Amino acid sequence: MNIVVLISGYGSNLQAIIDVLSFHTSMKIAAVISDNPEAYGLKRASQANIKTEIIPGKNFCKQDFELQLTQALEKYRPDLIVLAGFMQIIPPSITKAYATKMINIHPSLLPKYPGLKTHERVLDNKERQHGCTVHFVDEHIDHGPIIAKAVLEVYDDDDCLALSKRVQTLEHYLYPKVITWFVDQRIELEKGVIFLDGKPLSPEGKTFFFAQEDIIDAELF
Ligand code: GRF
Repeated sequence: MNIVVLISGYGSNLQAIIDVLSFHTSMKIAAVISDNPEAYGLKRASQANIKTEIIPGKNFCKQDFELQLTQALEKYRPDLIVLAGFMQIIPPSITKAYATKMINIHPSLLPKYPGLKTHERVLDNKERQHGCTVHFVDEHIDHGPIIAKAVLEVYDDDDCLALSKRVQTLEHYLYPKVITWFVDQRIELEKGVIFLDGKPLSPEGKTFFFAQEDIIDAELF
């Protein structure tokens, strides 16, 4: 299985994917593509001997970006495209072409809080729960059929930094886990319904609750 990972920055999710999936012989990260030449994630990729490509997004005309990204993806023939902190909007021609093969991780419990500054908004609204979501990518931002969520409790004395760190820990757990479902061919998307091990998932996706150190696996079939 060929995976292409798209990044823009630090690449901690990329690292979690590299670390966990290095044990998986049937999957290979064919390339890491970044729109940002300075992304630290590019160094992580090189250290793991993974090919890298830069497709500039900033100050670049939309059509050129679309063409370059289309060509790069065609070149690697990905079975799965993993958005890991990629800060460019994916053109609809590409989301359509890879509707069953492109996934994203977002630091909120979607459909709540798409977009930026999710932790601030969660704290402002005094939410009791927060977390991250992995979803298929459609033409809307942070939107598409939901595969899985990891949920944590928001504490009274939480601040943005503490909360963002805990959410990232969850991301590093959830994203590699979902990717192994693809590698092991356990997951399918058919007419907007996600099947895991042949059973339909609820529209909420498979949800994992994190209470202190424990993970409680909520059955949502
Ligand atoms: C993560 O919080 C992810 O949810 C969001 O962008 C961030 C990327 O972080 N989409 P990193 O580059 O993987 O460290």
